[in-house]
Amino acid sequence: MKKKILIINGPNLNLLGQREDDIYGKDTLENIKNASETKGKSLDLTIDFFQSNNEGEIINKLHEVEELYDGLIINPAAYTHSSIAILDSLRAINKPKIEIHLSNIYSREEYRKKSITSEGVNGLICGFGTNSYILGIEAIAKLIYN
Ligand code: DQA
Repeated sequence: MKKKILIINGPNLNLLGQREDDIYGKDTLENIKNASETKGKSLDLTIDFFQSNNEGEIINKLHEVEELYDGLIINPAAYTHSSIAILDSLRAINKPKIEIHLSNIYSREEYRKKSITSEGVNGLICGFGTNSYILGIEAIAKLIYN
């Protein structure tokens, strides 16, 4: 059966394209969704794309991963730096998991240099703009198929 992955996007990522485009680029979340689906098809992966500004909704979505998906990519956005609840949900998932960020969080403000959520994933990709999503899909394919 075709493998299925979930891509979760956290708060304010619905504003991409108009929000601090010098940092996050000009692509909208819809552009990124389309690029992700195209990349997914080339690797024989079905992609579900989800965005929420609400921590509880993200956690409820994470609870679906174990049963419904073969892997997870998450950009927790600002929750990266604060959410032990999302970290705990990630730790409960026994599937390949990758954290991604558009920007290089290690070259920005001090408070962005700590990712709490990355302690619950296999690995982290950041700093490549929209391509962080594409690289994330390549990486999750390797974790799922190899
Ligand atoms: C981000 C980085 C976070 O620090 C920030 O709060 C975001 C976006 C990124 O993709 O670069 O909202 O996750």
